[in-house]
Order: sequence, then C-alpha cells, then structure tokens
Amino acid sequence: MDLLQAYHPTLFRERGHQLVDLLADYLQRQIVEESDPTNSWKSPPQCYTEWEDYLKNETFDFETLVSKILKDSNHLHHPKYVGHQVGVVLPDAALMGLLGSLLNNGVAVYEVGQGAVAIERLVMKAIAPYFGWSEEADGILTSGGTLGNLTALLTARSVVASNEVWTEGHGQQLAIMVSEEAHYCVDRAVKTMGWGNKGIIKVPTDDQFRMKTELLETLLEQAQQQGVQVVAVVGSACTTSTGTFDDLEAIGKFCQQHNIWFHVDGAHGASAAFAPVYCHLLKGIELADSVVMDFHKMLMLPALTTGVFIKMASNRIALFFKKRIIFGTTKKTKNGII
Ligand SMILES: Cc1ncc(COP(=O)(O)O)c(C=O)c1O
Repeated sequence: MDLLQAYHPTLFRERGHQLVDLLADYLQRQIVEESDPTNSWKSPPQCYTEWEDYLKNETFDFETLVSKILKDSNHLHHPKYVGHQVGVVLPDAALMGLLGSLLNNGVAVYEVGQGAVAIERLVMKAIAPYFGWSEEADGILTSGGTLGNLTALLTARSVVASNEVWTEGHGQQLAIMVSEEAHYCVDRAVKTMGWGNKGIIKVPTDDQFRMKTELLETLLEQAQQQGVQVVAVVGSACTTSTGTFDDLEAIGKFCQQHNIWFHVDGAHGASAAFAPVYCHLLKGIELADSVVMDFHKMLMLPALTTGVFIKMASNRIALFFKKRIIFGTTKKTKNGII
C-alpha cells in the first residue's frame, strides 16, 4: 500500500466502520451476553511465539489482526472481571480517544492544539472546586500518576527549596515525608530528583495502614538536626494495597505550621471528591497544595490520563509561602462539606 492509499479517507471510512462493528460485537458478548471468558490465559512464551509466528507469516488482514488482539486481551468490560486497578473505559471515551489520536494535537504550547489547551484548562478548573479550592487553582494533564507525583514534587521543590534548584542545583539535602504504605512511585520520584535514600523519610503506619501523623513533628526535628530540608509531606488518598486514606487534615495542619508543601497522592482515590457519600474520606484535602488524580483508575477513561492540580498555580505560589494563609479545617466543596 502506498502512502496516498494509506491516508485515503475511503480506506479510513471502511476500516473505521469495520472496527466499530467489531468492538460493538465485542461489547455485546462481554457486557450483554457475558459469553466470553474474562481472560484466555496463555503462558508468556506461548503468547510471544504465537505473535512472532503471526507477524512473520501472515499476510496483513485488518479484521484478523483486530480479532487476534481482542482474543489476547483482558476483558475489562465483562461484569465478572476482577483484575488490576485500571478502569473500565466508557465507549464514548474510547471514541474520543480515536478522535484525539487522529488529530494528534498536543497541549505543550497553545499553537500545537488550541482547542485541546482550552479543554485541558477548563477540565482542571472544573475539578479543582471539588477539593474546596478557589479559582486560583489550575493544573495540567499528564500521562500517569507516577509522572503526576513527580511533577507535583518538582513544583514543591521549586517553591520550597532554599535556593533556585533548577539553575543552581541544591546544596542542601532535600527530603519528603511519606507513609511507608505509599505507592512506590513516590520513592521513585525522589530518586529521579537525585535526593537518594536520605530524600525519603518513611513515616510508620498504624494498624489500619494509615500514616501515624503524631510522629511527623519528631521526624521533622530529626531531619533538621541532620541538616535535611523537608520540602513536602505526601498524603496517600488512598494507598494502593489497602485503600487506606491518610488523615489529610492532620497532615495539612502540620504542613501549614511548618511551611512545608502538602501533596496528596490521590491517583486512586481523589475522585471520591465527586461522590457525596465518599467525599468525607478526603477531609483536609482543601489544605493540600497539590493533588494528583488518575482518571484512568476510577473515572472510566483510558490509560494514561492524570490530572496534576495545583492550588495556587501562579507566581503567587511564592508569595503564598511567605504569607501562608491558614485555612479553616471544614471547607465547602462543590459536593458539600469535607
Ligand atoms: C496511590 C497510587 N499512586 C500512584 C500510582 C501510579 O499511577 P500510574 O500507574 O498511573 O503511573 C498508583 C498506581 O497504582 C497508585 O495506586
């Protein structure tokens, strides 16, 4: 096939209809009839060899390729699927994914995708009030909670660290405090920033796997005695293995007292803010300076779609830290009181 054919609208129309028909049949079997298994398990070498043979030997046929991919996938839409953390994608979201993939507009700067940039901004602005934040709040979309947490901690570093880390590096050992039950990507973010093992102060947890916030004060004193500057405390909302929500209010108050950035890793559970029955779990999130929320976990979008929210997304962040406002502990959010 030459390039002219490959880009031709007729081919796209034909295959597009074929793909949507195959996927609609697939959803019919999965959701309505529940007739397929949730997974057709093969050993890794068997799967690899089968695909190797297919890609070497078969002549290309669009329908066969799609059917083979469907067969070797986990079927998240099956009502009996209980598997990994990723969400069950809304068919409408998948269609918008097709639109986005074809257009391939970015959001890095305005000229690469004007509509996309506006939509990203509006989505962030629409969600932030659910944390009890004001219109000062803003954010960006990124690909994954891992990258989201790194982005938020880089922001914390540039705001809180005692010198201009971006241009001068950091002379002093920097660190964050986080519960020992937190997702390993927080540890990875610290290592990526080059802070090493000393850069992560693990706070022990109680019998519910919740951060023992009463230890924060002592751990901070110990760090300071060793010449370590604590830049941020990360609260888990919730933890990956047990679904435990840290006491965000206690962490928030501690951070305000000590002028430390308060980041909430809400990759899995920050979306509880949308649910009137569950938003109480996030009590204290209004005190956070940044929040990460994965839309591909509990919000029915395809991976990877992550919101990084910053409470004061402007140069005023710096001013904010000089004259830190002490917020009340009960806050009216879009969904009620948390
Ligand atoms: C609490 C928490 N934080 C961060 C992550 C990392 O998110 P991602 O897999 O989107 O990079 C996860 C993923 O499981 C998580 O549960």
